Amino acid sequence: MTHFLDIHTTSKDDLRAIIDSARAMKTARDGRPKGTPDDEAPLAGRMVALIFEKPSTRTRVSFDVGVRQMGGQTMVLSGREMQLGHGETIADTARVLSRYVDLIMIRTFEEATLQEMAEYATVPVINGLTNRTHPCQIMADILTYEEHRGPIAGKKVVWSGDGNNVCASFVHAAGQFGFDLTFTGPQTLDPEREWLDFARQQGVRAEIERDPHKAVEGADLVVTDTWVSMHDPESAKERRHNQLRGYQVNEELMAKAKPDALFMHCLPAHRNDEATSAVMDGPHSVIFDEAENRLHAQKAIMRWCLGV
Ligand code: CP
Ligand code: NVA
Repeated sequence: MTHFLDIHTTSKDDLRAIIDSARAMKTARDGRPKGTPDDEAPLAGRMVALIFEKPSTRTRVSFDVGVRQMGGQTMVLSGREMQLGHGETIADTARVLSRYVDLIMIRTFEEATLQEMAEYATVPVINGLTNRTHPCQIMADILTYEEHRGPIAGKKVVWSGDGNNVCASFVHAAGQFGFDLTFTGPQTLDPEREWLDFARQQGVRAEIERDPHKAVEGADLVVTDTWVSMHDPESAKERRHNQLRGYQVNEELMAKAKPDALFMHCLPAHRNDEATSAVMDGPHSVIFDEAENRLHAQKAIMRWCLGV
């Protein structure tokens, strides 16, 4: 079974093949209307379940549109409205859904839920975000970087802020795609050590620099994300803001990066908290290309999972 669960558990060759395929499919559509199908219909006759236990705009819409462009059909399911939200086990849900659908995408809280779904499903499972990782986002981000600036290998990526789920998948990608990554943020919000070690074992630099101004020196790409994620308690908000204020990505910080550095944010953003509107809407920003590329990257991921 070919699941897409995480970047560090997918081979380098497969990751590269997915990016190349996404780019080719995007080019092949060549600006045609969004509701028209692709020339090929690799998902014809296939049914895809999209399960959300958390809110979503980009993931939900981009997977749904992507399946339709490839000739398949979708059903969007809210975890709360399924028996899953009322005590049915993940394992039983996985086995039942596998009798109806050809592919399952799930956005959930605990990584254990994703793993159990993958263990018991007899169809491929895709990680649409957990508390720990967000691999589909980073595949879109790699595609976006390379469209604008060429190969990401050997470049310097700086993550400023919370070492959260999106950050974790960036750390995984550093090792797999061969770029250096510097994390800058408060110690209590560091990404997991074992993941920084995983990147280092692949021969790239994975560092922590507490001073954001030093961290961004020579950066090719500066990335941030919300200071309070969907799985964080609301009560953490004030403390987070106090801890992270100094790591805001603003024009002064961006000016320390390379002149042609890109700025990324997976969205949704809290404008003028983690990044100023001047940066988000400024010349370095590619945030809406990232959002668009969720569609293209995930189409390639689904084809890879299904071998079509
Ligand atoms: N970036 C991202 O995953 O956005 P959504 O939460 O809107 O899906
Ligand atoms: N870190 C954010 C990402 C949202 C796409 C969250 O988990 O809420």
